[in-house]
Amino acid sequence: MTDRYAVIGNPIAHSKSPFIHTAFAQQTAQDITYERLLAPLDGFAVTLQQFQDAGGCGVNITVPFKEEAWQLADKFTARARLARAANTLMFTEYGILADNTDGAGLVTDIRQNLGYALAHRRILVMGAGGAARGVIAPLLAELPAFVVIANRTVSRAIELQRQFSPYGVVEACDYDALKNMQFDCVINATSASLSGELAPLPADVFASGSLAYDMMYGTEPTLFLRFAAAHGAGRCADGLGMLVEQAAVAFELWRGIRPDTRSVIAELRSL
Ligand code: ATR
Repeated sequence: MTDRYAVIGNPIAHSKSPFIHTAFAQQTAQDITYERLLAPLDGFAVTLQQFQDAGGCGVNITVPFKEEAWQLADKFTARARLARAANTLMFTEYGILADNTDGAGLVTDIRQNLGYALAHRRILVMGAGGAARGVIAPLLAELPAFVVIANRTVSRAIELQRQFSPYGVVEACDYDALKNMQFDCVINATSASLSGELAPLPADVFASGSLAYDMMYGTEPTLFLRFAAAHGAGRCADGLGMLVEQAAVAFELWRGIRPDTRSVIAELRSL
């Protein structure tokens, strides 16, 4: 029998997840379907329950339901417990298992696809919302020199610093405090580009040969990547590779088989 999966979000029409998971399934000869589900903003739990009742096996979760999905789960992977947000759920006989594969997706994209090692690097994460929370622990696991979390609302950065300091060297500050500091890897985890804005990043934060990474992606380079390219970043990357890599980790959780990501990233780039 064909196993059913879905991605739930609001909005959801432009999600690339059905394309990605369908490509993975073809590659690995898995008999699955993968659909988009638009949940009303106040109707995530009902949408999830209906899909489960209809025989669904698991779902991906996107904006704005990742925290709610986490709250509804019964069991957690270690990384999902830390992230306090879930982008992947699996329905099991023991209840709903929550995972968060975003950080693994980011780190794999940087390490494998971009060939950039994070060990001993000075990393700056911009933003302290749900997107940042999901990637801090996987970044620290790469043993960087340190991770600085910069946020407009500094109290949110300090909260993350407190939570993650047992796992590595983490500092928190506002954007002003970044003056005269330089980083080897600058990761944009803010939602600023959704509203056509850019966080107030000092222009000299990019060390020579540094990597600028935007967790967002679009058909055009984001404001952040244009700023980075104009101010000395050695390399710029958008979040398309992260999107495919986080999907691959979710697919492996569900199906027990790891798909090839490079061909799918290349296909998406050529669309
Ligand atoms: P997400 O789950 O996508 O991370 P979020 O929890 O709403 O969404 O967090 C959005 C992040 O983007 C926050 O760190 C936010 O900064 P504040 O905590 O100060 O609000 C950041 N952000 C959004 N717009 C921004 C802007 N124009 N400049 C700087 N940071 C911005």
